[in-house]
Amino acid sequence: MIISPVSLPHLQSGLAVTSDLFRRALAAHASGVVVITAQHAGRPAGLTATSFSSVSLEPPLVSFYVDRSSTTWPSLRAADHFAVNVLAHDQADLAARFASRGVDRFAEPTRWRPGPLGAPLLQDVSAHLVCLPYETAEVGDHILVVGLVVEADPQGPGRPLLYHQGRFGRFLAHPES
Ligand SMILES: Cc1cc2nc3c(=O)[nH]c(=O)nc-3n(C[C@H](O)[C@H](O)[C@H](O)COP(=O)(O)O)c2cc1C
Repeated sequence: MIISPVSLPHLQSGLAVTSDLFRRALAAHASGVVVITAQHAGRPAGLTATSFSSVSLEPPLVSFYVDRSSTTWPSLRAADHFAVNVLAHDQADLAARFASRGVDRFAEPTRWRPGPLGAPLLQDVSAHLVCLPYETAEVGDHILVVGLVVEADPQGPGRPLLYHQGRFGRFLAHPES
């Protein structure tokens, strides 16, 4: 059944869903946690994101969404490539640091090294992906960023860091799987 939004103007405008309701519903969705990093004008930049997703196998594409108000986005946008650092179960502090303003996110105790093309790679993560900018689009109050994966470095079957109901946690495999 197709319901025309024209006949439901209150739904079309999104007024039926308050931001509080939206946030509470989305909090039920558990996500993996990544830190997106880049190097611009000789300085490292990065932010924590749960909006990361795979997009395409051929070509290999991934995506994330960044808030239009992000102070890190101008550096990410200007960089010629970026890295995706997939965080491991014991890296909640790192995730919190890369979501905090007013701190040097790359200072101790953060441990990182320059990657093959220069973007910072965080130590002890579950995987690194190095990406070239492929597409961006303005979507609502965020910017969709699609990257072409040119390097991938999985670090084995480590456990992931998860984010759910506003808290960091760990994955527990179902006993029967
Ligand atoms: C668990 C978690 C997930 C986040 N996911 C995103 C995201 O997907 N996109 C985004 O723009 N910001 C996300 N943020 C917020 C950023 O990490 C960061 O706090 C925000 O962008 C402010 O810093 P900035 O000005 O350097 O961007 C997330 C924060 C947390 C704690």
